Amino acid sequence: MKRLTVPAIQRRKVDGRTADPLVMLTAYTARQAQLLDPHCDMLLVGDSLGQVIYGLPSTLAVTLDMMIAHGAAVVRGSYHSLVLVDMPFGAYEASPAQAFASASRIMAETGAAGVKLEGGVAMAETIAFLSQRGIPVMGHVGLTPQAVNALGGYGARGKSKAEHAKIVADAKAVADAGAFGLVIEGVMEEIAVAVTDSVAIPVIGIGASARCDGQVLVTEDMLGMFDRVPRFVKRFENIAATISAAAEQYAADVRARSFPTEEQVYRPKK
Ligand code: KIV
Ligand code: NA
Repeated sequence: MKRLTVPAIQRRKVDGRTADPLVMLTAYTARQAQLLDPHCDMLLVGDSLGQVIYGLPSTLAVTLDMMIAHGAAVVRGSYHSLVLVDMPFGAYEASPAQAFASASRIMAETGAAGVKLEGGVAMAETIAFLSQRGIPVMGHVGLTPQAVNALGGYGARGKSKAEHAKIVADAKAVADAGAFGLVIEGVMEEIAVAVTDSVAIPVIGIGASARCDGQVLVTEDMLGMFDRVPRFVKRFENIAATISAAAEQYAADVRARSFPTEEQVYRPKK
């Protein structure tokens, strides 16, 4: 199976419709990527790794070097899915030139197919700058976690008419600037539907609508690694319970000296 390309992803939306929804999950490590790769169209090396991997309180302290290290691991662990790497907070907002410097490092040092960045109208010039210079960009509008301090929290967006209109305008600006796709996060469903219907590029929802052109979730959320997850997460597994039970059994076996056993120790052959 050849790796999916940006044009191949774009071709999945025909005349404003995606018959076969795009499947995307986050991945941060090589082994995780290997396991997810056969089932996905896109793997996102999200800056959510700040909370998920590093225990940070938000994505704000995530660095370009962290994104590059994990991006390279995910590319090494996958061969089918298109890999995108998030541009971290502070690495692209100052100017299109700053964004190009960061994005070109991501592309060169990870082998990813493109980058994702947060913001709508305000980022349109930057999205155009990168797209016209060979760097495919996926936009991200609605609930944009890097703006948590301005938004005042992680609650759903678009509850007022004005905010509804702003999110739709952001999505259109991102599409008009040349982004090849768009993530829409944490919005009233009617906004996700309006955006999906009003732009020609694939719209990937998270906390958005089943009507979007595809869906993304944070893999650890979907696997049940955390006790507290947003309302929009469906837990498909309870990995936390599996890990806890295994660690409990290991600890009991070590304390009882019932591990290791004959099967796991080396002895000279007779
Ligand atoms: O960082 C991330 O995981 C993301 C997705 C949730 C869209 O941006
Ligand atoms: Na992100």
